Amino acid sequence: MKALVLSGGKGTRLRPLTFTCAKQLIPVANKPILGYVLDQVAATSIKKVGIITANETGQFVEDYVKDGSSWNLNVCYIPQEPLGLAHAVKTARRFLGQDSFVMCLGDNVTGQGLEAFVKKFKNEHLDALIILKEVDNPSSFGIAQLDEKGNIVRLVEKPKTPMGNLAIIGTYLFSAKVHEAIERIKPSWRGELEITDAIQEMINMGFSVKAEILNSWWLDTGKKDDILSANARILDEYIQRDVKGTVTNSTVDGRVKVEPEAKIVNSTIRGPCVIGKGVLVENSFIGPYTSIGDGSKIYNSNLEYCVVQDCVTVKDIERLEDSLIGKNAKVTRNQRNRTIKLHVGDYSEVEV
Ligand code: TTP
Repeated sequence: MKALVLSGGKGTRLRPLTFTCAKQLIPVANKPILGYVLDQVAATSIKKVGIITANETGQFVEDYVKDGSSWNLNVCYIPQEPLGLAHAVKTARRFLGQDSFVMCLGDNVTGQGLEAFVKKFKNEHLDALIILKEVDNPSSFGIAQLDEKGNIVRLVEKPKTPMGNLAIIGTYLFSAKVHEAIERIKPSWRGELEITDAIQEMINMGFSVKAEILNSWWLDTGKKDDILSANARILDEYIQRDVKGTVTNSTVDGRVKVEPEAKIVNSTIRGPCVIGKGVLVENSFIGPYTSIGDGSKIYNSNLEYCVVQDCVTVKDIERLEDSLIGKNAKVTRNQRNRTIKLHVGDYSEVEV
C-alpha cells in the first residue's frame, strides 16, 4: 500500500500567506500542518509516499519534506495543475500503479491515526473506505448516506435539503479500481474532477465502498480561523511544559514550551503556548493558545489566541487577539497620533 498526500491546490482562502508559502506549511504549534499528516502516515506500515504539489508552492513543500527520511518515508513529488482531487489521483497514476493507497489532504489533521482504517480496508478487501465525521452544518460539505451495513449508497455535494450529517473529511483508502471510475467521470460545474463523483461512480459500478466514522476531532485548515482553532487544539493535545530558553524576572505558567535561545524578560507567559527558538519576549503578556515562531520579537504587547510565524516583530500593541501573522511581518503602534499607517500585501485582511 502507498500514500498520496495532496499538497497542491490554490489556497485562495489563505491569501496573502499562500503567495509566498504552501498553505500546508502554515505552522500550528510551530510545526507545519503537513508535518502532522506525514507523522500519521509514518505511524502505519506504508513507506512509499507521493506528494502532490502545485507549481507556485511545490518548491517550499520539497524544501520542508526533502526525501522524507526525517519520517522514515520514501517520498516523491508529483506536480499537478489544481483541477480537483480526482485529477490529483489521475496525475499520480504512474506512481500509484496497481497498488491500493491511502489519500490524505495535506492541510487536514485528525486526532486519530490511520492504522485502524488501513487494517479494516485490507481485512474486508474493500475498493474504497471513506472516512466520515458528523457535522452541524451538512450543507457546507460532501455528505454520505449509508445503509445498515456501513456501505455508502449515495454521496451528495453540499446538499440543500438534509440527508444526514456525515461529512467526507479528506481521508480516503482506495484500491486501483478507483482509476476505472475516474476515467468515467467528467469535470463538475467548477471545472474540477471531483473525488465525490469518482466515489459515486465506484458505487454505481458495484464496487465495495464502505465508510468509517472518525471518533476524534478533525480540523480542516483552509481558512484563518481554522488555523487558529487547529493551533489551539494541537497546543492542548501535544504541548508539555518544557522551558529551555532563559526566563528573567518573568512568570511562565502551565504547559508552555520555550525553545532554546529564547529569552523571556519582564513578561508573563500563560500556557498552552509555544515560544520558538531565539524569540525575545519583553515587557509583554503571551496568553493561552498562542504560538510564536522562531526568531520573532515581542515588545510591550499583549497577545492571546494568535499564530505568529517566524521573524515577526510585534511592538507596543495593547491587545492582539485571534490573529495570524505571516513571516517577517511587523506590527507596531504609531505613538504620535491615532492615524493608522498600513503597508499591507495584496489580499491581506486588517481589522482595526
Ligand atoms: P481545497 O482546500 O479544497 O482547495 P484549494 O487548496 O484550492 O484552496 P482554496 O479553496 O482556498 O482555493 O483542497 C484540499 C486539499 O487538497 C489542499 O491540501 C490542497 C489539495 N489539492 C490538491 O493537491 N490538488 C487539487 O487539485 C486541489 C483542488 C486541492
